Amino acid sequence: MFEGEAESESKVKASPSGPSHASRRSFLGVLLGLGSLFVGALLAVPLIRFALFPLLRRTTQLKNSPVGELSEFSPLTEPVMRTVQIEQVDGWRKAVSEKAVYVTKDSQGQLRVLTSICPHLGCTVPWNKEKNQFACPCHGATFAADGTRVSGPSLRGMDTLETTVQDGQLLVRFQYFRQLVSDKEVIG
Ligand code: FES
Repeated sequence: MFEGEAESESKVKASPSGPSHASRRSFLGVLLGLGSLFVGALLAVPLIRFALFPLLRRTTQLKNSPVGELSEFSPLTEPVMRTVQIEQVDGWRKAVSEKAVYVTKDSQGQLRVLTSICPHLGCTVPWNKEKNQFACPCHGATFAADGTRVSGPSLRGMDTLETTVQDGQLLVRFQYFRQLVSDKEVIG
């Protein structure tokens, strides 16, 4: 073998641009790409959860609201309206608002608290003393003193709210219910 030929052969062997080197480089590239994707996905999960949090979270009342002394409702002969303060978490926002409820009695004489929101389309339902019934001004739904449906477009009676008694105080858990359906369904 001539001296020149041996030299060029050794150059070919030492060259970093052979086919095995190229495939090693592309393998490392794929590995790096996969690694970046994995890290990106890991970082994206909390961001997506943070962004969707208000959509996924339901509005919830934090604690029960006082309606009044239990003793003041014992002599009730017709529904009385009370305004309760409710503290709610809505997405990231914590808000305090006021809602009107009615304290009334059921057919057994037990106290019952009704939301004043009409189950038809959400108008506030006033008590009509002369007619001895609730009468919604929006589309004419009427309800008996205990909240049961009498007539009109509403598919159910007025919604009752959960109550508890603590230290002689009547407390209520205010909730919102789906409108335009016959069964009571909590939506927040
Ligand atoms: S909102 Fe009350 S009857 Fe329609």
